[in-house]
Amino acid sequence: MSSIKNVIVIGANGSIGASIFKALVDSSKFNVSVLARPESTAEYAANIKVFRSDYSDSSLVEVFKGQDAVVSALGAAGMFEQIKIIDAAVQAGVKRYLPSEYGCNTQNEKATALIPAFGFKVKVIEHLKQQEAKGLSWTAIESGPAFDMCIQAGIAGFNINTSQAVIMDGGNRAYSASNMSQIGNAVVAVLAKPEETANQFLYIDSFTTTQNEILAELEKATGKKWEVTHSTSDAAAKEGTELFGKGDFAGLFLLLSAIMLGEGYGSDFTQDAALANQKLGLPEQSLAETVKALAAGKSV
Ligand SMILES: NC(=O)c1ccc[n+]([C@@H]2O[C@H](COP(=O)([O-])OP(=O)(O)OC[C@H]3O[C@@H](n4cnc5c(N)ncnc54)[C@H](OP(=O)(O)O)[C@@H]3O)[C@@H](O)[C@H]2O)c1
Repeated sequence: MSSIKNVIVIGANGSIGASIFKALVDSSKFNVSVLARPESTAEYAANIKVFRSDYSDSSLVEVFKGQDAVVSALGAAGMFEQIKIIDAAVQAGVKRYLPSEYGCNTQNEKATALIPAFGFKVKVIEHLKQQEAKGLSWTAIESGPAFDMCIQAGIAGFNINTSQAVIMDGGNRAYSASNMSQIGNAVVAVLAKPEETANQFLYIDSFTTTQNEILAELEKATGKKWEVTHSTSDAAAKEGTELFGKGDFAGLFLLLSAIMLGEGYGSDFTQDAALANQKLGLPEQSLAETVKALAAGKSV
């Protein structure tokens, strides 16, 4: 496959998309442009070409002409548009599509059964596989939870503002997590190595760790003993299912915690998958340095 130069990002101002967009621009390896909805209020530097699209088939094909890769970082609200976007990418002759994954192991059936919306991510991959013969290749990046985002937002069992922790199942089960910068690094590396990364899932991390190790680093970095309560991943899955079923988004965070910390959800990529960090040449990131930076209010 020839090299990838022209890259368009969808959802470039989103929670995850902003890190991906920044990494692509900072790498100086690509001509990066953005596809945004007409009503999107995000602003970009003057040298970034922003295409507005209502996601109609004709506008998508027009925008994708001349692009080598489409990187989707669409959130839940736009997730369902991906089938149409993929079909337009094929028509326009795009070479590589990165679906909006960047999280839990959606190849794990126990995980996808717990969060019904993940079923759509699975459908997107199935659709992508059907496009391979038409010339569109794909790469799905699984990063585990976005560690820095979770700590900053207090959604992984740790509240850095109140120094409180909820430890699940004893806190010694390992899971893989990635800082948002590492997700951006992975997207850059995938597009820089199109041959080696075609038509596959790639699992990455910043570190694979446990809640107890994170708690120890948080206590060291904040210089205080945290208040700890204990729970179980089964309780989180049960309560999360009930709440989310009633439309309460707090339920979704409980479900994500259950997948991240529970047994059998394929969340330890060092055991349940093969880490692609080396293949992609990703930089080392440490738990201790990450926590120290976050406790000091810095980004990583
Ligand atoms: N690993 C983790 O911890 C983690 C955390 C969060 C998300 N994720 C994953 O990362 C991916 C991106 O999620 P996200 O939370 O970053 O997305 P998000 O911030 O909710 O949305 C991303 C972008 O989607 C576009 N969009 C398209 N249609 C939309 C609509 N109808 N309403 C609102 N926005 C729409 C918007 O871009 P424009 O304004 O430019 O049109 C928006 O900025 C998902 O696959 C998600 O599952 C992973």
